[in-house]
Amino acid sequence: MKFFIDTAEIAEIEKWAPTGFLDGVTTNPSLIKKSGRDMIEVITQICEITDTPVSAEVAALDYEGMLKEAEVLKKIAPNVCIKLPTTMAGLHACSTLTKQGVNTNLTLCFSANQALLVAKAGATYVSPFIGRLDDINLDGMQLIEDIRTIYDNYGFETQILAASIRTPNHVSDAALAGADVATIPASTLEKLVHHPLTDKGLEGFVKDWASTGQSIL
Ligand code: E4P
Repeated sequence: MKFFIDTAEIAEIEKWAPTGFLDGVTTNPSLIKKSGRDMIEVITQICEITDTPVSAEVAALDYEGMLKEAEVLKKIAPNVCIKLPTTMAGLHACSTLTKQGVNTNLTLCFSANQALLVAKAGATYVSPFIGRLDDINLDGMQLIEDIRTIYDNYGFETQILAASIRTPNHVSDAALAGADVATIPASTLEKLVHHPLTDKGLEGFVKDWASTGQSIL
């Protein structure tokens, strides 16, 4: 399973890029707003840190506008992945960009039928939003399972990018459901490593090792 970081904060990307866990970055207009920075500058800076896929989202809602914005975004760096909404215009733009060999990420996917259309449009990634479905008392993880089944039935190569991840359980459940990628906020990435028994066990080992008086070096 690939791990993308869901952020427009440079410090977070700089922190995770050298760990070897980071396979990509996703941004969206709300994350850009939160950063308080210019979008083109942020995406350029992220692409200087990593050559993994970096999703940059169009703001236009119409087909022509999306393609014009995609032209600007894809010139930033070869690893920019054009993020498009799962609307008719977004799907149409996706088909066109796919024919041009441009990588795409179809965002705001909330149903299996939308995901089916995304695959038929040839997208590189589909982003089902788990957390936002859970927020309204629906089952985000069931959507990941349904998309996995449908894509496997037909051999679609679009990668399932589990998005709107809120908890460590979302990450492991998405992995169990067969998601290809999870895009994870930095705060949740941090939580993945921690286990109280690891901390307790290590404390015991450190104490016992010290009492042996030995040194490996
Ligand atoms: C995905 O690409 C989105 O940026 C993100 O996962 C949305 O998450 P949210 O629902 O927590 O805003």
